[in-house]
Amino acid sequence: MKLLVTGGAGYIGSVVTEQLLGAGHQVEVLDDLSTGHRDAVLEGAAWHHGSITEAGEILDESFDAVIHLAARSLVGESVAHPERYWHGNIVATLALLDAMRDAGVKRMVFSSTAAVYGDAEAAQITEDLPTAPTNPYGASKLAIDHMLSAEATAHGLAAVSLRYFNVAGASGSLRERHDPETHLIPNVLKAARDDAPHATIFGTDYPTEDGTAVRDYIHVRDLAEAHLAALDYAELSRHAIFNLGTGTGTSVREVIDAVREVTGVNIEAVEQDRRSGDPAVLVASGARAAAELGWRPTRDVRQMVADAWTAGAEHR
Ligand code: UFG
Repeated sequence: MKLLVTGGAGYIGSVVTEQLLGAGHQVEVLDDLSTGHRDAVLEGAAWHHGSITEAGEILDESFDAVIHLAARSLVGESVAHPERYWHGNIVATLALLDAMRDAGVKRMVFSSTAAVYGDAEAAQITEDLPTAPTNPYGASKLAIDHMLSAEATAHGLAAVSLRYFNVAGASGSLRERHDPETHLIPNVLKAARDDAPHATIFGTDYPTEDGTAVRDYIHVRDLAEAHLAALDYAELSRHAIFNLGTGTGTSVREVIDAVREVTGVNIEAVEQDRRSGDPAVLVASGARAAAELGWRPTRDVRQMVADAWTAGAEHR
């Protein structure tokens, strides 16, 4: 297939591009480099530097699909600057959908998020649970999910939303390189390289076993594989939604323990107040993705930490 990957210079987009090229697809990447890196785009992909609002200049009927990963994606930033999320995610995606409709490109795989579920009570979150985002980031992604449903019904789009849980790990040298880095695993790994290693725990009074927030960490390579399955799965006039996680929850303290084990560094944990907008627990049910996409993750948190540690050590 001929594909446009928006956000293909980013952490997840670069690994998705790597796998699409590996499967023999023709890939063009569109990225504004606001958080991505030009050197993360593999040579086999055509490169376009620009905003997704300019996708109309690239798309034509020769494209089979758009894999839409470009977005702002920080919960904390979205609470402080919601307007960045309404413009950067919702308004920009509307322009991308307009461009696809004009060009007759009928298929989209979209990066949605677990953040649409908010503070879900369920031990494992299924796709039919009510959505109730606790921050503008999740709200912006949910708005796009609604846009895709309507686009499928009204204009025949074949759409798949992949609701990522917490993505971690690396694929060779393709790794997380955010600045500032807010994510737990890269931050604890960064601490492990310091002279006086200490990691921060945001909130120790959550209603969880050890009082720290629980997330479902998913290896970026497992996650990328789901995009290839979703491309094949997408059906005209239908919007399908899949949660992508492992079904296993890991607390902040458990992540810090895993980093201590993998690195052999005795990182001190410093306890702070909760970070605004953070839900207590987010764990996916993988049942629908397994049954319909035939996708099952195989890599655990230890593997994610080990791969990110190796990638970081080799490419500092
Ligand atoms: N945390 C710490 N210390 C840190 C960094 C994070 O205690 O130094 C905590 C956070 O408060 C949170 C947990 O670790 O409870 C995970 O935080 P991350 O920042 O790694 O990830 P988030 O859960 O906030 O968000 C990520 C993505 C979102 C996505 C969400 C889905 O950034 O895009 O996962 O679960 F929506």
